[in-house]
Formats: sequence, C-alpha cells, structure tokens
Amino acid sequence: MRYLTIALAKGRLANKTMDLLQEIGITCEEMMDPTSRKLIFTNEDLKMRFFLAKATDVPTYVEYGAADIGVVGKDTIAEEGRRLYEVLDLGFGRCNMCIAGPPEAADLLKKGEMIRVATKYPNIAKDYFFNRKNQTVDIIKLNGSIELAPIVGLSEVICDIVETGTTLKENGLVVLEQVMPLSARMVVNQISMKMEKERVGELISGLSRRVRT
Ligand code: PRP
Repeated sequence: MRYLTIALAKGRLANKTMDLLQEIGITCEEMMDPTSRKLIFTNEDLKMRFFLAKATDVPTYVEYGAADIGVVGKDTIAEEGRRLYEVLDLGFGRCNMCIAGPPEAADLLKKGEMIRVATKYPNIAKDYFFNRKNQTVDIIKLNGSIELAPIVGLSEVICDIVETGTTLKENGLVVLEQVMPLSARMVVNQISMKMEKERVGELISGLSRRVRT
C-alpha cells in the first residue's frame, strides 16, 4: 500500500490537528519528539506520513499531489486559490478576516473613496473590494504587523485577521467590515480524492464525527 501523506501548517493548527487525529486512533509517535530535526514523520502500521510546512505552502503541496491531504486555515486557502477540494471545517482556529482601521475611516469606506488597503492577503482584499463591493482601492502588500499601516499613514485601512480583537484595541483601531469567517480546514488533492477514495473518505467521516462546527 502506498503512503497517505498529510501536510500540516506548522504551529498551533498542527498541534490541534494531531490531537484530533489521535481521537480517531491516528497517532504519530515520531512526531512527539521535540528535539528531532526531522521534517517528515511516518506511521508504518497505518501507512501514513505527516510533514510540517509553512502554512502558505500547504495548498501548493496538496495541489501538486506531494501531499494527499492538508490542514490549513481558510485564509491561506482563499489567498492561494489552488486547485484542491476543501472537504471539512475542523472547527478550531476560528477567527475573522476583517477590514479594520481608525473609526474615522468608516466614512471613507462608505463613500467608496479611493483608499489604500494594507494587507498580507492581497488576493482576498482584491476579491472583496473589486468583485464583491465594486470599489476601486489601492492594495499594499505587507508581511506582518499590518496594524502599523494606518497608524503611521501607509494606508487608510487594513484587511487582516481578527481573533480576540486585542491587537486592534491596543492600537486604537476598530473592525469596520467583515470579509469572511475563518477556521482550520481539511483539503484534499483532486486525484487523491478519486484514487484514495476509501482511505480519504474514512478519514473525512471519522473526523467529521469529532468536530464541533
Ligand atoms: C495576527 C493578525 C493580527 C493578530 C490578531 O497576527 O495579523 O495582527 O494576529 O489577533 P488578535 O485579534 O487576537 O489580537 P500574527 O500574530 O499572526 O502576526 P503578524 O503580525 O505576523 O501578522
């Protein structure tokens, strides 16, 4: 039997995914060793392999079939726009993609003015403003600490993830519009979905019985 390969987004999502998999009897002892520098872990009995990748790369591994399955945030799936099947909402990592800024920016948004939007997610921001709102804006790509942009005058608003809202609050910013709800999702390679129908199907049904959505 060939290995079924699962790509996990490094960090909190990966740990939560392994906890969830453990509940349905899928474990990977090799992965538990925190001193290990190994990149890929195998469970020989189950003929499964697991690897950790940067979140933004998970959809790429899955599209090309280097991983049959991936677990990654909806934000990354939407931003990357890869060809894959999104099969399950795992119910954790819940947060929201929002347009945020200083309270005064609400007026600029309402009037449909030409504003600058700073974001780590240019595709999501473009789709939201150009396609859903029919509003022309200037999108500025940043790589982190997005909340800084409206404070220092780089942009009027930001398009970013809001979880607890603490970062916005501590920087005098507010949520102005909701773009989409986010959470961890299971994605499947389009060919694996057919070729590994049984094993993938079993995994989806096992996990879907465990998740609270
Ligand atoms: C994310 C996001 C916000 C923050 C939201 O940043 O971009 O800045 O978390 O969380 P909160 O609503 O609970 O305050 P992350 O920590 O991933 O770092 P980043 O600056 O690299 O985007």
